Amino acid sequence: MKNDKMKAFVVRQLDKKVFATAVEYMDIPTIADDEVLIKSAYSSLNYKDALSSIGNPGVSRNFPHITGIDVVGTIAKTTSEKFSIGDKVIVTGYDMGMNVKGGHSQYVKVPSSWVVALPHKLSSKESMIYGTAGVTASLCVDELLKNGIKTGKVLVSGATGGVGTISIAILHKLGFEVVAMTSKKEKVRFLKSIGASEVLLIGDMDLNNKKPLLAEQYDGMIDTVGGDILAHSLKTIRYDGVVSCCGIASSFELSTTMFAFILRGVRLIGIDSVQCAIDKKEKIWQKIAQQFRIEDKILAKLTTDIELEDIKAIYDKILKGQISGRYVVKI
Ligand SMILES: NC(=O)c1ccc[n+]([C@@H]2O[C@H](COP(=O)([O-])OP(=O)(O)OC[C@H]3O[C@@H](n4cnc5c(N)ncnc54)[C@H](OP(=O)(O)O)[C@@H]3O)[C@@H](O)[C@H]2O)c1
Repeated sequence: MKNDKMKAFVVRQLDKKVFATAVEYMDIPTIADDEVLIKSAYSSLNYKDALSSIGNPGVSRNFPHITGIDVVGTIAKTTSEKFSIGDKVIVTGYDMGMNVKGGHSQYVKVPSSWVVALPHKLSSKESMIYGTAGVTASLCVDELLKNGIKTGKVLVSGATGGVGTISIAILHKLGFEVVAMTSKKEKVRFLKSIGASEVLLIGDMDLNNKKPLLAEQYDGMIDTVGGDILAHSLKTIRYDGVVSCCGIASSFELSTTMFAFILRGVRLIGIDSVQCAIDKKEKIWQKIAQQFRIEDKILAKLTTDIELEDIKAIYDKILKGQISGRYVVKI
């Protein structure tokens, strides 16, 4: 750190639709009432961070900006009685990394109401392997369990992505038979190594099949891509099955019929890990640290370690759908 400056991954707006990124030194922020200053230890990369880096107005509108919707670190300053200096804490979501400067920085300032204590059973680095992707995957799994899907076969789309890989590993740990759906032929072995028992290649699927229902195959599904893939998959969910949907990596549109819902009682449940209440986040972090905790060797397989200087190159890959697993940024 140079003279009260902090190193950060910064996005600058050069023209109306022209954005540039670089690792720079910026002023360490000062905190107001009910805020905390966190000294970052690790962050991670998520799809939304990549969108923020190219100035997607649905994600970020204030520039210069620092990306990073996840951070773990220690409280360096606080004006809130909820936390003390030195506490280890996590922040995922809310407006951090969107319109509030994010976790790809040596220091982060946020309202104390966004902060969760790091569960004792997780290391700082482990918490960022999960990050927003892990919170989202865990909320998706939790909805399957709460809605009666406790065993059987579960389909996971966008399988090689952050939410996809963590969903597969958690479902496998809980004893489900996991079917991974991916666009990447070369990742079949990887997906099986983290818990998939079968892998479906999108290229082999007939997404234009117009039949309103297909053979019942899956008790549940976690969908991270939306669009035709979700529409097709809904036709294959068994009677009384449940689909947790959280992402739009393929499309934000969904063109379907009512038949799966009214003839098979299929339930489609939306998941939001960003604005969800802080007590719900605290509870899901406890599950991540215990009931849903992924075996260390599987966690290691889906993790790539990077530094602030590497982020730009990985964003390019994320935006092209070329990444797999989770990227953990050491700050
Ligand atoms: N609701 C929430 O609270 C919440 C929270 C976190 C994330 N999300 C959303 O969930 C989605 C996944 O997030 P993530 O962090 O897992 O992203 P990610 O790590 O970038 O992975 C996305 C995966 O989706 C698949 N994919 C990418 N482009 C695609 C395309 N054009 N068509 C079909 N599949 C495509 C790829 O998997 P394959 O190649 O294996 O198919 C890719 O690895 C994103 O839309 C993200 O915004 C929502």
